[in-house]
Amino acid sequence: MNLDLLIRNVTLPDGRRGIDIAISDGRIMAVEAGITAEAGRVIEGEGYLATPPFVDSHFHMDSALSLGNPRMNQSGTLLEGIALWGELKPRLTVESIEARALQFCKLSIARGTLAIRSHVDVCDDRLEAVEALVEVRKAMRPYLDLQLVAFPQDGYLRYGRSAENLSRALDMGVDVVGGIPHFERTMADGAASIRMLCELAATRGLMVDMHCDESDDPHSRHVESLAAETTRLGLQGRVTGSHLTSMHSMDNYYVSKLIPLMREAGLHVVANPLINITLQGRHDSYPKRRGMTRVKELMAAGLNVACGHDCVMDPWYSLGSHDMLEVAHMGLHVGQMTGVDEMKAMFHSVTTNGAAVLQLDGYGIAPGAYGDVVLLQARDPVEALRLKPARLFVVRRGRVIAETPKVEACLHLEEGETVIDFTR
Ligand code: FE2
Repeated sequence: MNLDLLIRNVTLPDGRRGIDIAISDGRIMAVEAGITAEAGRVIEGEGYLATPPFVDSHFHMDSALSLGNPRMNQSGTLLEGIALWGELKPRLTVESIEARALQFCKLSIARGTLAIRSHVDVCDDRLEAVEALVEVRKAMRPYLDLQLVAFPQDGYLRYGRSAENLSRALDMGVDVVGGIPHFERTMADGAASIRMLCELAATRGLMVDMHCDESDDPHSRHVESLAAETTRLGLQGRVTGSHLTSMHSMDNYYVSKLIPLMREAGLHVVANPLINITLQGRHDSYPKRRGMTRVKELMAAGLNVACGHDCVMDPWYSLGSHDMLEVAHMGLHVGQMTGVDEMKAMFHSVTTNGAAVLQLDGYGIAPGAYGDVVLLQARDPVEALRLKPARLFVVRRGRVIAETPKVEACLHLEEGETVIDFTR
C-alpha cells in the first residue's frame, strides 16, 4: 500500500489511543495502530486528538464580516440587527458579498470547519446573495462543503415576492428550503408557511431547515406544525428546526407532548448558543431567561441536536472567529451540560451531529470515509472544549490545507525556563 498521507499516533474522539490514519486517493484506507506503509507525507500526531472536521450546521454567510457597514448595532438587539440588515441590503453587490464570503471561508478552513450550512436571504429581489454564494460554493468545493438554504428573512407570506424569489433561488441551485414562521403576521400564517414550504420541499425532493420559534414567547409553537407536516409528507430525517428558542420558555407539560412529536418526525434540531444567549431574554428583567432550546432533554429523547455559529461579525453579532469549539463551549455552559457524557455530546454537536443535519456523505474517521481530518492540540474532546486549541493540521481529501503552529508558553522562573503547552 502506497499512501498519500499517514497520520501517526493520534487519539480519536471515541477514546482510542495510539492510532494511525492512512489516506490514499482522498479516502481513508485504514484506522488502526502500527501502520507501516510508505506515505508521501507523514504527520506525527504525538497522541493529540484527531477529529473529523467541524461542521457549522447554521450560519449566515451573506452577512458575515459586514460589521460596521453601514453602522454598528448600538443596542445589540435582534430587532436593531434586522433593521440594520435592511439598511445594508440595498448597498450589497455580488462582488462585495463574494469577497466577504471567500474571506470568511478561509477563517473556517483555518479553524478546521470544513462543512457549513448557510442560510441565504431571498428577500432581496435581485438575489445577489444567492448569485454570490452559489459561486463561492463552487470556488470553495475543493476545501469545504457549503450547503445553501433559501431563507425568506422578511417572511414567506409577509414579504410579497418571497415565494417567487425562493423558487428562483432553488432554480439557481440553492440546496435547502428555509422559512421563518414566527415572523409571519399571524400564527395561522406561520402554520400556512410551514405547510407550503414543506410541500415545496417534498415536490422538489429537498431538505428543509427553518428558523423556527426564535422567540421567548412560550406560545410560539410552530415547531409543532413543522413536526406534523414532516410526518404528514413523509419527510422524516430531512427536516431541521433551527433555534427553537421558545422551547426554553414553554410549559413543561406541553413540552412532554411536543418532544415525542418531534421524535416521531425525526426532526433535527440546531441550537445557536452564542446568539441565543445574547439575543433572547431581552424583554426580561430578573431572573433573565437563557433562551437556548432544551438541548439536554432533546438529546436524551434521542433527537439529533447540533449547534451552529449563526453569525460572525455582522448586524446581529459583533464577535466570533468561527471557532465551533467556542460554540459548543457556550452551549455546554448555557445548557449546564457538565456531566462527562454531556460534555462529549456537545463535542459531537459541532462534528458528527452537524454532519447528520447536512446529510454529509463519507464523513468520519473510518475506512472508506473521505480523508478529512483535523488534528487538535488537545488530548481528548473535553480538553478540546476547555482549551479551544490550535488546529495543528487541517486535512481535506488527504491533503494538508491549513497548519497552525503549536501554542506553547515559555515561562522564565527562578527554577529555570519551563515550556508548557496547556494540555494535561
Ligand atoms: Fe439564523
